[in-house]
Amino acid sequence: MKILVTGGAGFIGSHLVDALVKQNHNVIIIDNFSTGSIKNLEKSKTKVKILNLSLSIEKVLKRIPKILKDTDYIFHLAALPRIERSIDDPIGTHQANVEGTIVALELARQLKIKRFFFISSSSVYGIQKRLPLFESLQPNPQNPYAYQKLMGEYYSKIYSQTYNLEIIIFRLFNVYGPRMFSKGSYKLVFTKWLEQIKNKQPLTIYGKGDQTRDFTYITDVVRGLILGMTTKLRRPFEILNLGGGQQKSIREMAKLFKSNVQFLPPRPYEEKFKKADINKAKKLLKWRPITSIDEGIKKLLNYHTIYSTTR
Ligand SMILES: NC(=O)c1ccc[n+]([C@@H]2O[C@H](COP(=O)([O-])OP(=O)(O)OC[C@H]3O[C@@H](n4cnc5c(N)ncnc54)[C@H](O)[C@@H]3O)[C@@H](O)[C@H]2O)c1
Repeated sequence: MKILVTGGAGFIGSHLVDALVKQNHNVIIIDNFSTGSIKNLEKSKTKVKILNLSLSIEKVLKRIPKILKDTDYIFHLAALPRIERSIDDPIGTHQANVEGTIVALELARQLKIKRFFFISSSSVYGIQKRLPLFESLQPNPQNPYAYQKLMGEYYSKIYSQTYNLEIIIFRLFNVYGPRMFSKGSYKLVFTKWLEQIKNKQPLTIYGKGDQTRDFTYITDVVRGLILGMTTKLRRPFEILNLGGGQQKSIREMAKLFKSNVQFLPPRPYEEKFKKADINKAKKLLKWRPITSIDEGIKKLLNYHTIYSTTR
């Protein structure tokens, strides 16, 4: 199959690319390397075609690169993620996260692809009265990033209805694993902690650390995304949670890193509790997460030891 991965040089995108290449697919990447890195593509860079482009109307739609002709699937991951970044730069992140998504959808329409995958976030649920979070809950986003992801979902739904496109929205829950070291100052919690360990500093925790997250190991996520290509759909538009299905508090997680902690004031825009209901993905994709938190953190710490001694 010919597959376009936007954001393929990023943390999740590069793992997806490696897995698709392993399955002998013909992979093309669009990435502007704003947070991604060619280092993430060490395994696959000679086997894929990389277009160093921003997903903008000017750069992509005015003259669609010829190489994209006959694309079968698009995985759209390109984004400027992280909540804090969207608070500091709502316009810049809107351009990447909302405009970038409609450009990817328009590509899908013009290229007449088989199926489009939009990689969304559990952030769209925001604050809810109950857990676990299931796909048909009314979204209640609490920050610009979450709104931007929700807008991407709404555009996807409209594109599916209007242009008869098959689309799966994947709502990911706190993905972790090797390569989660994207450039810049906005970091995922484990990345920050690993840097703090390296610098012999305490692990910082916002608030009391009783906020919970549903951590999902990268290989489980990638397996779920790839199942999306072959799953039979009863409806042309589906939303699926991909989560570990367990909630863990930040304080509990910090214990697994075996370091001292330092508590900082809470962040008001942060969701308090998260736990994914993964029954729909289990049923539709025949998927389930198989990496336990203990195992996943062990793998991450191993990788980090190798990473920090070789770079
Ligand atoms: N990491 C998580 O826990 C998590 C959770 C939920 C959802 N997601 C979503 O998964 C996707 C990938 O996240 P990630 O953690 O791998 O982030 P990442 O920053 O490592 O990857 C994003 C990639 O998109 C590229 N990019 C950004 N703006 C672009 C643009 N305008 N045009 C082309 N390329 C552009 C970046 O260079 C980078 O390679 C994002 O859409 C994110 O919102 C991630």
